[in-house]
Amino acid sequence: MLVQTYQKLMTLVAAVSMLTLLGCSESAFESHFEASTYTQSLMKEAQNGVGDLPGVSDLVLTRFGTPQNLVAWKKLPIDFGGITGRITAVPDSAAVKEITVELDDDATLEFDPENPPELQFLTGEAAPLTMFMASWSAEDGVVGFTNALEAAPVVGDVVVLNGGKPLAHGRVLYMQHCSHCHGTSGNGEGPTAEYLNPRPRNYQHGVFKFTTTTAQAKVSREDLRRVLRNGVPGTYMPSFVPMLSEETGELDEVVEYVRFLTMRGEFERRMVTELSADFSKDALASRKEQGESHSDIVTELKDFLSEDLPDSLEFVSDDMEQAWTEANTEDVQVTPTAARIPDSVESRRRGRELFLSAAINCADCHGIGGQGNGPQTLIYEKNPVTQELYEEPGLHDIWDNVNQPRNLTRGIYRGGRRPYDLFCRIQAGIKGTRMPSYKNLQHEDIWHIVNYVLSIPFEPEPGHIPVSAASEAAPTATP
Ligand code: HEC
Ligand code: HEC
Repeated sequence: MLVQTYQKLMTLVAAVSMLTLLGCSESAFESHFEASTYTQSLMKEAQNGVGDLPGVSDLVLTRFGTPQNLVAWKKLPIDFGGITGRITAVPDSAAVKEITVELDDDATLEFDPENPPELQFLTGEAAPLTMFMASWSAEDGVVGFTNALEAAPVVGDVVVLNGGKPLAHGRVLYMQHCSHCHGTSGNGEGPTAEYLNPRPRNYQHGVFKFTTTTAQAKVSREDLRRVLRNGVPGTYMPSFVPMLSEETGELDEVVEYVRFLTMRGEFERRMVTELSADFSKDALASRKEQGESHSDIVTELKDFLSEDLPDSLEFVSDDMEQAWTEANTEDVQVTPTAARIPDSVESRRRGRELFLSAAINCADCHGIGGQGNGPQTLIYEKNPVTQELYEEPGLHDIWDNVNQPRNLTRGIYRGGRRPYDLFCRIQAGIKGTRMPSYKNLQHEDIWHIVNYVLSIPFEPEPGHIPVSAASEAAPTATP
């Protein structure tokens, strides 16, 4: 059923792509990064800056560039690829046309004059200038340029050769395979998105649902790779095997580009948060109503942009650097301290008790039979931002979509069906959703619950001995 709908959908997608190729629907695939709805909620001067003082849009542009010209903000752990090196000699001349570079880690550079490598200055006066290399001597590290450099570098400056190539390639693949759902800016608003439920992920919150990292941690590269290999079962998020090759590195290039879009979006959103209390369009309107003049508000904004925002920027970027670096370390991996408890009728019973217990109460959301129809699905929630009740009953996720607890009788697990996957879902929760983290639960107890959850599809009524358990006792009984 889903497969059929998916095929129909892909036909639609192909039609949309055709139209774009024919130039009929230019807006379908944005060629620029759009300002997020958060940025658009700010008063114009906070978005675009005042005089020389940059607003949010400029802060984002200088650190992340445009789709065609991605910028390497060294602060964040984004792998831009390429070979780094250090300048060891610069000729004493007014017009510098060659420099000597020592490559890090004894790297070697393939020099093809037909397709010359790029050299970018990462530090010093000449940064962030990028030049094509006209010549390269592998023996003594001399790089020649066709034209003289605009600003002279000095010994010790850091350069990168062919930097950004893998990321730029990741972008090409992303535009080909992902943007019609996830959008050019990763805001989940591609042209196909409105037909889908659940909606494609908006990366810009910096939050991913199905991770193997602890409750507060970011998604790891390996988690993203797994999503691309397996897709998200039961949703329109497809598997990209064999479309994106792991051998040639394509899969990793797309993963890195998703991380780039995500960090870009998170940075933008967090900068907006710093400004929105006093300088949103709404704040502006109510301040004016209370008699403040536009020019006074702009003067206050100028002070904020020049004094407070640089501090916030440093704080936010330090925090992001730490969180996104940590995500790929073992420190934040969900690691069971107890080996998996083998599946058995007793273990399932114990799991079921815990599932229904007042203290853990999975049933409050998932229902006593696990059908995803617990009492919580009937309440009216408040939108945490506007503080107003949502129009429809049920749980919501941070992307403001209705997000009901899973019907566990179907046996379809979006985050993967390995017992370890379910262990992670329970131990770390499902990020961005109301499915909580049970981080204080004994790991043995989590394994019992996992055994119970996996048995639910086979258990038509409480107390019934599951077919799979019966077949374990007599392996030949079922085909
Ligand atoms: C046909 C539409 C579609 C296409 C094409 C698509 N996605 Fe998705 N993607 C989705 C949907 C829908 C979800 C949300 C699933 C959910 O919420 O459970 C999703 C979720 C994701 C997630 C989030 C997983 C998590 O743990 O939160 C990532 C990462 C992702 N997609 C990456 C990609 C990449 C990279 C590509 C291209 C190689 C791509 N997607 C192509 C529809 C799509
Ligand atoms: C406050 C509500 C709430 C509680 C309590 C809750 N869940 Fe969930 N659960 C959800 C929601 C919402 C989802 C769907 C999230 C999504 O995928 O977007 C979910 C999804 C799941 C999934 C699907 C995972 C997948 O990969 O598809 C499993 C399994 C699950 N919950 C098990 C449990 C267990 C076991 C407990 C108790 C230990 C529990 N839940 C408690 C709300 C809840």
